[in-house]
Amino acid sequence: MGNDLLRVRFLPSGATVSVARGTSLSDAAALAGISLDMPCGGQGNCGKCKVQVTGGATLWTNTERSLLNHEELQRGFHLACQMRVFAPLIVEVPTTSLLASTYKILADAHSGAFDVSDAPVRVRSVVLEMPSLSDDASDLERLERELGPLELDLGMMRALPALLREQDFRGTAVLADRRLLAFSPPGDAPACVAAAFDIGTTTLAASLIDLADGRELARAARLNPQTKFGDDVLARISYASTPDKRERLRHDIVDSINEMLQDLAEHADARIDSVYAIACAGNTTMQHLLLGIDPVSIGVSPFVPAVSAAVHLPASEIGIHSHAKSHCYVFPAIAGYVGGDTVAGLAATRFAEAETPSLFIDIGTNGELVANADGRLVATSCAAGPAFEGTRIAHGVRAAAGAIEAVHIEDDLVYKTIGGAQPIGICGSGLIDIVAELLRLGIVCQSGVLLGPNELPEGLPGAVVRRIHYFDDQLGFVIADADETQTGQVIALYQNDVRQVQLATAAVRSAIAILLDRIGVRAAELRRVLVAGAFGNYIRCSNAQRMGLLPGDVDPERIAFVGNTSLAGARLAATSLKARREAEELAKRTEHLDLSLDPAFQEIYVDALFFPELTSKPLSAWREDFSREQPV
Ligand code: FES
Repeated sequence: MGNDLLRVRFLPSGATVSVARGTSLSDAAALAGISLDMPCGGQGNCGKCKVQVTGGATLWTNTERSLLNHEELQRGFHLACQMRVFAPLIVEVPTTSLLASTYKILADAHSGAFDVSDAPVRVRSVVLEMPSLSDDASDLERLERELGPLELDLGMMRALPALLREQDFRGTAVLADRRLLAFSPPGDAPACVAAAFDIGTTTLAASLIDLADGRELARAARLNPQTKFGDDVLARISYASTPDKRERLRHDIVDSINEMLQDLAEHADARIDSVYAIACAGNTTMQHLLLGIDPVSIGVSPFVPAVSAAVHLPASEIGIHSHAKSHCYVFPAIAGYVGGDTVAGLAATRFAEAETPSLFIDIGTNGELVANADGRLVATSCAAGPAFEGTRIAHGVRAAAGAIEAVHIEDDLVYKTIGGAQPIGICGSGLIDIVAELLRLGIVCQSGVLLGPNELPEGLPGAVVRRIHYFDDQLGFVIADADETQTGQVIALYQNDVRQVQLATAAVRSAIAILLDRIGVRAAELRRVLVAGAFGNYIRCSNAQRMGLLPGDVDPERIAFVGNTSLAGARLAATSLKARREAEELAKRTEHLDLSLDPAFQEIYVDALFFPELTSKPLSAWREDFSREQPV
């Protein structure tokens, strides 16, 4: 080890690296193969990259002092993105600071087979007559007798004679329109498969489909590795400011696609070179980053993308490992913040043909909304922020094992964690439950103020009242006591957390209000509300309505949680040329509404910061809703 290198040992893994003086602790962790959860991309905003320095220097930056509480400072916690290495260190990494590998990701299974009659690549099994003196047709003529006129490139013309003879003139022809791409030996392994990808800001989901019969062979999901550069698209756009950083982001996503393809192929007993068709759907920024296109113009007004049309190009140009002649389809976008994932969702749910008026909502860090009034489609977007993904919430976590995902309060609070593990924090669906429950009980009032012990309404159970405390001068409501949690620290909801939820909810509520106003429809008139995305699938409708995240005056029977429609749309595009044409038509005909141009936007947004008034629905009805939707 040179004199200028300093050893950093990470526990509990024991990974040790030697780094140059002044290296950030987060870079040292990355070098040691430790993936920290860094939702703000190392900007010092989120406070999620906490590590405990048990040996070595303990000087804190001002940012660290503002984001770590008194107890954490006393115990030697630092923010890995802010601390620099100036001495040998021993660093304990809590599981709550790791990028969760068991993240709960929605990659819906598809029951039944896809229609592959219109697939971009088709397969035909053929058994040909052997050449003989009485049948001296050329190899190509022989094949065309079975398959009709064919086009072959020179490489295929050269390969065909040997392939036919090695396979006794039988096998599976892989065709793109009239072009013969391959002639595979007969066998059990799928000869031709399609892969579909949902490229989300936070998660990636994929599906592999056999193009011989339309069966889904395998599914996979994982976190988007780009999350270490920030949890929302603006952080990614800002990171992608130079060609080398843009290339790093592109590599991250392409490497993940290749790894997922490998996993899918292994699971399905297919070869990677049997992948002939690929379709990707993501928001506009993710699609730009996948293609290595500079997304900078999406980040500044007037927020225009460099490319909004569908892109269809050889997969090898993107760097995706598949058959040498495979192609990749990337969805068209509607606008800078209404991307290919929304178009895919509209196509998958056949939204344009649904009973109207109707509303399609995908709630993520960026919320996308599309309204349909008598066939007129209008789309908009809103910056919901990452609160519902567990970020910017003091004890917020992503939806991983141990995350509190459901909460109910009766005589006392009961919670349910993902996987039944000891709690590590609160994820989005748990957050909605808690705020909705505190609203119902009057512990949080309509303006979002968390009431102190002396301000509470009468008649609350004593066990519930005892959960309200001051922590470092901040009022909080205890969800789990220190002796119940994995970290040994109390998990609580603080006043500032309620504010974050208010901001996120207000963004979605005001977007819905303006969009419906633009198409001349009242919420109560909506015949159908489709809630797409992973997040939507885990929330309870009654609580989302109580908070105002979903319109309260829509009959809950008309609200449907439709899952990962981006992946569903990508599957359609991977297996059908007609679906691609329909997606392109949808993108073209959907009008885009920029909320910031609406003169009433500010006023509506400020109004929406107030939680809706509670309805006269009796407590017993809320309880029934809760137990019906997902009992704790
Ligand atoms: S504060 Fe370190 S990653 Fe956000």
